[in-house]
Amino acid sequence: MAKQIIRPARTISGSLEVPGDKSISHRYAMLAALAEGTSDITHFSAAADCRSTLDCLSRLGVTVEAKGDRVRVTGAGLGGLRQPRRALDAGNSGTTMRLLAGILSGQEFRSTIDGDGSLRRRPMRRVIDPLTKMGARIRSREGGYAPLEIEGARLSPIEYTLPVPSAQVKSAVLLAGLFTDGVTSVIEPVRTRDHTELALAEFGARLDHDGRAIRIHGRPRLEARSLAVPGDLSSAVFFLIAAMVLPDSSLVIHNAGLNPTRSAVLDVLGSMGAPVSLISVRSSNGELVGDVAVRHEALKGGVIEGDAIAQLIDELPAIAVLGPYTEQGIEIRNAGELRVKESDRIASLAENLRRMGAEVEERPDGLRVAGRSAGRLHGAEIEPHGDHRMAMAFAVAALGAEGETVIRDAECAGVSFPEFFSTLERLVER
Ligand code: S3P
Repeated sequence: MAKQIIRPARTISGSLEVPGDKSISHRYAMLAALAEGTSDITHFSAAADCRSTLDCLSRLGVTVEAKGDRVRVTGAGLGGLRQPRRALDAGNSGTTMRLLAGILSGQEFRSTIDGDGSLRRRPMRRVIDPLTKMGARIRSREGGYAPLEIEGARLSPIEYTLPVPSAQVKSAVLLAGLFTDGVTSVIEPVRTRDHTELALAEFGARLDHDGRAIRIHGRPRLEARSLAVPGDLSSAVFFLIAAMVLPDSSLVIHNAGLNPTRSAVLDVLGSMGAPVSLISVRSSNGELVGDVAVRHEALKGGVIEGDAIAQLIDELPAIAVLGPYTEQGIEIRNAGELRVKESDRIASLAENLRRMGAEVEERPDGLRVAGRSAGRLHGAEIEPHGDHRMAMAFAVAALGAEGETVIRDAECAGVSFPEFFSTLERLVER
């Protein structure tokens, strides 16, 4: 397994583009697969996770041609997927498994979807329950874990209130709703990312919003589209945090996705004192996109909690490692979901921050990381537990530490951002 050495840096500056948004890439590929005609998707994510989705779609009989960050998908139509010859492999990707579970539930065939060791430990009951209510028969490993064996059926519409704020569960139900003869409703007490809703509307599905309810009308005709994926703000955040770690930094990130259900991280950084500005904000296929400019500022830190957590969930590792560089430190509450991500992110953050000398209090649903007065971080050997966001968060924390840091198993960053380390090296000055 490849190690990555991170030496301390003086500053970070310049401009960059990040790979296409992972969440949006999955959705465009899946809906293009269910549409009629050939969709052309540009700036498609380079993430290994999105390759897993493309690979699963090919195995379902969809024609997928990928060249660099351009992907052409010739859809099979709503009724045209074919039974795969062997188990589908979602790799490390929860989005692939949970969203495809929704689609597979509406097919007339039986299929199996599996994933790597990490994905096999992640809770799938949350999609099994509503999809079973719609009529699918799903067998899992004891406790609701992958592999999932899905026997599709003629699905019936349901009204479903999300028991956990999860865009993946919401999306699984909405996608299954495409295969019903009626109107499926998902009620989300806490708002989560709405890329599925926006993408469904782009492809021609009929959706209504009524307060916290989203209703999808079954059996639409989905039509192929030309789509451009915005840059992944969750990847961009590592660079924004690097600029907060290193004095005199100044960065511009071009074409970043600014969907309001994803951009809460910019508000959090702003409220802690970061000078963040948005330039040339525009709409692209229903998604907001723009350039994000940031300059270094010594941040106050603060508490992150409540409903905001659902809209910041992927950014919390990067925010947490900023704790020792802030005045008051950073406290994260109500974020128990972090324990069921690609790794137990609360435990991994606490363990690795302590290795670097930070003062950390770990709690069941969050953690508190002490601020600057607890002392400067020092280099350490970091164990990311195969979790891409851990590898990247600690690479950024290491830039301001004393001495070298070694990130074990660093290639796991490729799950979302294969060029992360080379991009970081290009922008830092020592
Ligand atoms: C995602 C939703 C979130 C997020 C994940 C991507 C999506 O997961 O953490 O990285 O694309 O819908 P949950 O739905 O489990 O909160």
